[in-house]
Amino acid sequence: MKPTETLLNGILDEVRPLIGQGKVANYIPALAEVPASKLGIAVCYNDGEIIQAGDSQESFSIQSISKVLSLTLAMALYEPDELWARVGKEPSGQAFNSMIQLELENGIPRNPFINPGAIVISDMLYSRLCAPQYRMLELVRELSCNPQIVYDKIVANSEMQHSDRNASIAYLMRSFGNFNNEVMPVLNNYFSYCALKMSCVDLARTFSYLANKGQPLGAKTPIISQTQSKHINALLATCGLYDGAGEFAYRVGMPGKSGVGGGIVAIVPGEMTIAVWSPELDQSGNSLVGTAALEKLSARIGRSIF
Ligand code: DON
Repeated sequence: MKPTETLLNGILDEVRPLIGQGKVANYIPALAEVPASKLGIAVCYNDGEIIQAGDSQESFSIQSISKVLSLTLAMALYEPDELWARVGKEPSGQAFNSMIQLELENGIPRNPFINPGAIVISDMLYSRLCAPQYRMLELVRELSCNPQIVYDKIVANSEMQHSDRNASIAYLMRSFGNFNNEVMPVLNNYFSYCALKMSCVDLARTFSYLANKGQPLGAKTPIISQTQSKHINALLATCGLYDGAGEFAYRVGMPGKSGVGGGIVAIVPGEMTIAVWSPELDQSGNSLVGTAALEKLSARIGRSIF
């Protein structure tokens, strides 16, 4: 069954009472100011049709959802052997900003979707692109068909001012020889990617290439191959929700990626891309109400990869 706007509105009404059970991220002070009551959802079919409800057109900080875009760019720039020598493909079972495994595993992050993995990928982009921030912006504007997308400089600066943990992660990886550039300029790029401001509609359109074998909406050629798209979806299904990946697979059953801004993107390969936004997070840093909305949607439309 195809979701309709009525179905999406109904699901938002059902999950709205859960607002208050999670916590808006406050370790990045600029994010703490976002009202907890925001709630939006958008579905983009592979034919380009969009169905939406709630605050689906309001922009928010995509945070770690950007890690998927960084990996996509890196896959186009590096041979698989070069890329996967520097970052793994296994779930971490640890918090997204944990350093414990990094020390024990010689500075090689478990996967590209935890902070250490995305920071290594940012280092790789920095080495091969002359203007990585510009290239990223160009990519999201093209994929979302929205030329208005910008970096939120207030959020990026707020992260830069509270960067001790991410900087420690980068320096630790450098001590193991898994970081090739100066730490702060690379982190500056990483924070900008996280500070991209996008709406649920923008996100659902942007990530439609993962539901469509690497082929973005509105572009003539695929941005990645069908095999690379399968690879990213597999990593999203196992690692996209951090130490909450198993719970998300159990409840929602779709490859997905969350961000501490409260957004989650979920993919139904071959069919549709879904984006939800609700700022309060659960203990793993994933949107609490967003996960509940996706769980209900997956049950109502009978879609899951399992
Ligand atoms: O580096 C950080 O901690 C944030 N910019 C991104 C973390 C994040 O979104 C984790 N997601 N749930």
